[in-house]
Amino acid sequence: MDNSPVLSAGQVSFFKENGYLILENCIEPDLLAAWQEQFWWCLSAKFDDPDSWPTDQTFIGRWRFTPPCPNIGAVPMVQAAVDQLSGGNFIGGGGAPIIKWPNSSGQWSLPRSSHIDGYGPPSQHPEGGLVLGALANLHDVESKGGCFIYWPGSHLSTHDYFVRHPEQINGSFLDNEGWNYTEFSKGSTEGPTEFYAPAGTVILWHGFMCHNGSPNVNTTPRIGIFGRWHYKKLEEMRYDILDDLWKHWAV
Ligand SMILES: [Fe+2]
Repeated sequence: MDNSPVLSAGQVSFFKENGYLILENCIEPDLLAAWQEQFWWCLSAKFDDPDSWPTDQTFIGRWRFTPPCPNIGAVPMVQAAVDQLSGGNFIGGGGAPIIKWPNSSGQWSLPRSSHIDGYGPPSQHPEGGLVLGALANLHDVESKGGCFIYWPGSHLSTHDYFVRHPEQINGSFLDNEGWNYTEFSKGSTEGPTEFYAPAGTVILWHGFMCHNGSPNVNTTPRIGIFGRWHYKKLEEMRYDILDDLWKHWAV
């Protein structure tokens, strides 16, 4: 068995500094084709037939690809990268696909607000405390095509906030009067950034990195295949990061 790390030291330090990492050609073309076939079969629709698109369906709960197709968390390169980063301390890897249907007559702008996953509406993660996310687009996505938007480096300003307000790691920050996620995102080094890439490219992000969706004014749907991981020992580990954000990681 090959135990050599899948991520280089440079990729690991990029992830730690910027809160995300983009892995190109991560999903093999055969697997991507099988994912596409299963997904559109489940929707009873066709990618190249806009009249068939169920545009009121924007996410699919309890989603799993049918074996032998792996879910995103079990794709070999993703699994190896997560294992390398987490040292086996995280569990999860599933997630609901999120669809941004095209609205080519709509207005496009970057979202003003952001969020982190694992808090707030239970649709995101019932246990809370997400530590790592992964996203692959099922089809190629170009700028303004419903991209995932992320605030590079904001995982560090979110961490700073929790160092100052550790009692709020349980999500009570949401109850602060006039709460605004700019408290977390204000340390972003580049401001909101679009993730657009060919299908098969994966972005990994730290659970404290601020992100959001965005409008799709192109002509094809953005179908995001998500994986999410949390700490194996959520309650113990999530308060235990005040001195070192990476304490329960292997990096
Ligand atoms: Fe999110």
